Amino acid sequence: MSVTMEKIVNLCKNRGIIFQGSEIYGGMGNTWDYGPVGVEIKNNIKKAWWKRFVQEDPSTYGVDAAILMNPRVWDASGHTQNFADPKMDCKSCKQRFRADNLIEDHSKGKVSAEAMSNEEMEKYISDNKINCPHCGNFNWTPIRQFKLMFETSRGTLDGEKDVVYLRPETCQGEYVNFLNIQRSMRAKVPFAIAQIGKSFRNEITPGNFIFRTIEFEQMELQKFCKEETSFDIYNEYKEKARKFLLDLNFSEDHLKFHDHDKLAFYAKAACDIFYLFPMGWSELNGIHHRSTHDLSRHQEFSGKSMLYLDPITNEKYIPTVIEYSIGADRLMLAVLTEAYTEEELEGGDTRIVLKLHPAIAPYKVAILPLQKNINEKAIELYNNLSKKFMCMYDEAGSIGKRYRRQDEIGVPFSVTVDFDTLEDNTVTIRDRDTMEQIRLPIDEVEKYIEEKIVF
Ligand code: GAP
Repeated sequence: MSVTMEKIVNLCKNRGIIFQGSEIYGGMGNTWDYGPVGVEIKNNIKKAWWKRFVQEDPSTYGVDAAILMNPRVWDASGHTQNFADPKMDCKSCKQRFRADNLIEDHSKGKVSAEAMSNEEMEKYISDNKINCPHCGNFNWTPIRQFKLMFETSRGTLDGEKDVVYLRPETCQGEYVNFLNIQRSMRAKVPFAIAQIGKSFRNEITPGNFIFRTIEFEQMELQKFCKEETSFDIYNEYKEKARKFLLDLNFSEDHLKFHDHDKLAFYAKAACDIFYLFPMGWSELNGIHHRSTHDLSRHQEFSGKSMLYLDPITNEKYIPTVIEYSIGADRLMLAVLTEAYTEEELEGGDTRIVLKLHPAIAPYKVAILPLQKNINEKAIELYNNLSKKFMCMYDEAGSIGKRYRRQDEIGVPFSVTVDFDTLEDNTVTIRDRDTMEQIRLPIDEVEKYIEEKIVF
């Protein structure tokens, strides 16, 4: 079964997962609001990432840095000078496209334009006669740079305002806290700083739902290490990133590692993990060997020494950075794509099931009283279990319809409370994926579920 974007968007809209941003005003391009079901899934994705990369690794420290940073940070990072997309307008239909996307789409992902100059991209588009995807003509303007950072200003008096930027990536908050973390946590290289937070980019290309948005969350980690060990650590993070996805129930066949052959001048290696999204293979996350570039630039621009003194060898050096970065919203789209399943049932019916890993399911259990007049026990069970995890309570409609509703939002277990429950304190637990049912004493339900939702 092929999962289309349309099916995912419709399910998200109709089941409280994701809505168009500012919908009643006609929406706003490339913005989306998470509904009650979606916010739970996304929070669980972030929790799973944090657990795996921060909680379970004693050498990784979490931070939550400010979104608005001293503008000099963006001079040091190069964003004020270079952070722009190469855009071309079609002179026939007036649509605007990213030149690198035109090349990558035309070559079906086989050619990466990431390290091409504007001249190289224009030549490739001309040599390969890449026509406008909208109107089919070959009538392009030259490439122009389109700034991606959102600007705002601070200051109270007119005419005395300073420009500040909404951060376009979270990792700079990790670099600028390198000295703070090292000192306050007595951190020894190699150690990592990680954070999850919002980033903003003035993207104008068609977003493919939440794949590319102007406001999104990143989960980023910078490992500071010694040059000699840096390639081992780089390979370790490639493997950790892969394992994280496989443990979230991704199929290996839907992941592709793309090692860059052209690198930024400071980089020593770079790899993107591509996922087979409904619109085709596209980048899900990246692992980059950034040499000593980032800390050296911050040393130069801030005037603060970023030299690390090795307490054992007494060597002094600027640490090398290995970066692992993944978008929470982009991972959410991949998770939904991977989990979306349509199954033919006996009798000709079709059921939609989100086969989410139980750890990231929005609700862990649905409590479904078979009849309204026996709901007292069901409410009591809901009250007890909801102290431990998110639970759904649903007493409206036939039991079959209620099961379908839970399947569609990925609730892994449904508990029915029936007349026997009143007699013997047992309930039926139904498994979302197998639809098998077992009978269990009511006071064993919590343990049963808790064991199954571990990540
Ligand atoms: N600090 C490195 C960095 O920001 P990036 O490749 O630009 O690198 C990292 O972004 C990840 O953030 C991407 O792999 C993707 O998952 C996510 N991401 C980037 N731009 C995004 C956008 N406009 N919308 C949603 N997610 C985005």
